[in-house]
Parts: sequence; structure tokens; C-alpha cells
Amino acid sequence: MAPRPTILDVDTGVDDALALLYAVASPEVELIGATSVMGNITVEQATENTLAVLEAAGRGDVEVAQGAARPLGRDHVPFPVVHGERGLGRAAPPPAAAKPSTRSAVDLIVGSARERPGEVLLIATGPLTNVALALREEPHLPDLLGGFALMGGAFARGGNVTPAAEANIWIDPLAAEEVFTVFSGADDARLPICVGLDVTERAVMRRPDLDAVCGPAPDSPLGRLIEGATSFYMDFYAAVVGEDGCRLHDPLAVAIAIDESLAGLVTTRVEVETDGRWTMGETVADLAGVRGSPWPVGWEPEANARVALEVAAEEFMERFVERVRSLVEARA
Ligand code: RIB
Ligand code: CA
Repeated sequence: MAPRPTILDVDTGVDDALALLYAVASPEVELIGATSVMGNITVEQATENTLAVLEAAGRGDVEVAQGAARPLGRDHVPFPVVHGERGLGRAAPPPAAAKPSTRSAVDLIVGSARERPGEVLLIATGPLTNVALALREEPHLPDLLGGFALMGGAFARGGNVTPAAEANIWIDPLAAEEVFTVFSGADDARLPICVGLDVTERAVMRRPDLDAVCGPAPDSPLGRLIEGATSFYMDFYAAVVGEDGCRLHDPLAVAIAIDESLAGLVTTRVEVETDGRWTMGETVADLAGVRGSPWPVGWEPEANARVALEVAAEEFMERFVERVRSLVEARA
């Protein structure tokens, strides 16, 4: 199968960086662009980090377009404790030679979809602000894209920022609500693939995995970037979450987007809580199929999502280590 033209929409923090590297290292992917959004850090820092990561990966040619600096209708709350003040943990890669694109994230996404109708795979691993704004610009985007996947939500379990909400959705719940609304009723193959905490919490990278990834060239620029970023992220999990190993939320979203066989997907309807004092950002999924009931439940019947509830986590981790290790070796 020919590589799929793919755009990653990222708030490059540590796991976004690892997602970019996994995409670069995957033969199924033709990485045609990356778009930055605020989230883990500011959008400016996300842009700088994305350019630096792609340069270290030997892909300084990829167009990087800057996107939204703040969520829809609320202020931006970054997460330096998780990803570090500059978003890549203790890694401090040199500034990239490449500069951001002259066009915006929305123009890159919409322009690419119009240029290659039905082909482009869009994978969002940050808040959905850019995606919502792109859908406002081009309401036919669900049909123009070849596919859409997102890392976000918690569908049959609790959240990670609040007991109810996962970070990407919590940062911009209004954007998420707009995205799920526009995709309502789309053909099954075009529904957003939602890779939430239900499966990403099972994608655990531990010190032996990190040593294996960096093993071929630990002192190379890419080896140092991966070690500096990921070790900080692992330290966060150990100190704050009390867990051995960090969660590869974003790389798993890329892996499932390019190979759906890694996941068990359920077609359903998702609504996003945008008002609840305690539940703001909750992704409420009708996994029991109540919305079709005869009593007045107030839910639209149309599906708007394919939610990942199962994952071949060991297969993913093997693939992740093998592919990113090969990239480190190639860049030694
Ligand atoms: O909840 C995990 C998500 O929030 C990941 O995308 C991580 O990068 C942060 O953005
Ligand atoms: Ca992210």
C-alpha cells in the first residue's frame, strides 16, 4: 500500500515529539505537514519544538504551520510540570534551520485536503482548536480528508486532568464539541478515530525501552533529544503519578490511525460536556446504545466517532521501539 499523505496537528510536548518520530519512521506515512497548536506549552514553543524535532529526524523539509494560540472561548493553561518549561523535558535541541510556513495551520490543513481530495490523513494529538477552525473554514473537510484520528478523551474510564476529563479535550471543550458535531452522520470510515485514555494508558514506555531506542547512537542529536525529553516525562510519571514508565498517548494515536488493526474500535456517538463545573471536558460516549431508545433521551441517533476501547499494546510497543530505534540508527 502506498504511504498515506499525513498531517500531524501537535502541541509538541514530549509524546507529541515521539509521535512525530514514529510518523517519520513509519513506511505507511508520507508526512506532508505538521501544524502546531497551544496545549502542553504555548503555540510558539510548540512550533519551535516541532521544527527542531523534525530537523533532528532528518525531515527539516516538512512544512510546519503555526495554529491557534488560545482555546475557543477560554484561557490557555499549559502543563510545564508534565513536559517541562519548553515542552521537551530536559532536552534542549538547537533551533532548527527551517522556519515556520508562511501559511497558517488552518490553511495548511484545508489547502492540503483540497489539493488531494479523499487522500490526506489528519491526526490531532493536542487540543482540537485547529481542527475546529479548519472545519469552520471548510465544512466539507470530513469528505475531503482521507481520514481523521485524534488522541483525546476518556470514554469508559476517568480522566487525567480532572476525574472526568482528558487533557486535550479539557483544554478546549468547545472545539471538541464543534468537531464531533460536524462529523455527525459521516460514513463509518470517515468518522474520527478516537484514541483516548482507555487505550493510551496501556501504551507504557519504560527505561529498557528508552535504552533500546537510543542504543544505536545515544550521543547523537536525535539520541540526546529522545533521552532528555523522555527521561523527564518518565520522572514525572514516577514522582507525580507514582507509575513506572511514561504513557505514549500520541504515538499510539498515530499507530492506530495508520493501522486500525491494532485497536478494537466501537462506532458510537460522543458528546462533550462544555458547562459542567465538575465535568467540563468530559467525553460522554453512548457505549450502551441508549440514544436509539423510544423514550425522550435528547441524544441525536447519528454516530460521530469510532472509539478505541481495546489495543494490542505489546505489538504497538514492539513496533514503536523497532521503528524509532531504526531512525536513531539512521541518524547516527
Ligand atoms: O492526555 C494526554 C494528552 O495531553 C497528550 O496529547 C499529551 O501530549 C497532552 O497533550
Ligand atoms: Ca499532545
